[in-house]
Amino acid sequence: MPFLPPVSGPEVVAHRGATAEAPEHTLAAYRRAAALGADAVECDVRMTRDGVLVCVHDRKVQRTSNGRGVVSTLRLAEMEQFQFGARRSRLSRWKDDEILAVTDEPDVENGRVLTLEGLLEYVTATPGTVRLAIETKHPTRHAARVEQELVRCLRRYGLLAGDRPAEWAGKPAFRVMSFSQLAVRRVRAMAPGVPTVQLIGKRLRPVRTELLAGSMSAVGPGVALLRSDPSYVEQAHAAGKEMHVWTANTAADIDFLVSLGVDALITDRPDEALRRLDRG
Ligand code: G3P
Ligand code: CA
Repeated sequence: MPFLPPVSGPEVVAHRGATAEAPEHTLAAYRRAAALGADAVECDVRMTRDGVLVCVHDRKVQRTSNGRGVVSTLRLAEMEQFQFGARRSRLSRWKDDEILAVTDEPDVENGRVLTLEGLLEYVTATPGTVRLAIETKHPTRHAARVEQELVRCLRRYGLLAGDRPAEWAGKPAFRVMSFSQLAVRRVRAMAPGVPTVQLIGKRLRPVRTELLAGSMSAVGPGVALLRSDPSYVEQAHAAGKEMHVWTANTAADIDFLVSLGVDALITDRPDEALRRLDRG
């Protein structure tokens, strides 16, 4: 598999994998994203009760598996009893309590909860195929254990040496994102060379603060926030920060972000984004 070529335009990041085509946070979704030519894949990580980082977005497991419970109170062995890989309705926002059809394909690999180490194993099996954007979810619950375990895993798979990330085609092989400013600061303290993305929710005010004063490498607002004031992109660039924007799924949103010159475009539909960038 060739190394990623240099690209012009925003990096295309497949949100939870190619989730328009395969269940989120499954190897099937990540493989599909890589096959489509996405530059990177996004993955949410949470810590189990016994300290394992698993690729799960929600606090609870019921939306994406046939199990029940809160990830932080379950052991990995318990989570491995559940069948993951439930499909959600395509491209729509879904509610946490919505129970979705669980795939009944006898696919053990896709049915088992994906651990961060499982994902790292896949990504490093063919280095350079696809980069990683790892988001820590609610890391404050575990003191610094999430960041410590994340750093341990990245070192174990050769993606972090000293405080520097491995580079693929001249770019870091991974970055770490979080809505938690504390988590971003912890990662920077543990490994200052690691690129970090400060995710921004709906409020406008923190954006300006983060852009001007933060020590992160990039700022990550939602596309709706940028629509309210597109000048945030210029402000970020003037402050030396990249702009990584989520989650652009419509042609209009994708074109809007491309026209603004954002640095990374996070999408459930990497195929559509690549097509619109003439890379599909
Ligand atoms: O990439 C950032 C984006 O994933 C944040 O939203 O809820 O999908 O994790 P969420
Ligand atoms: Ca996420």
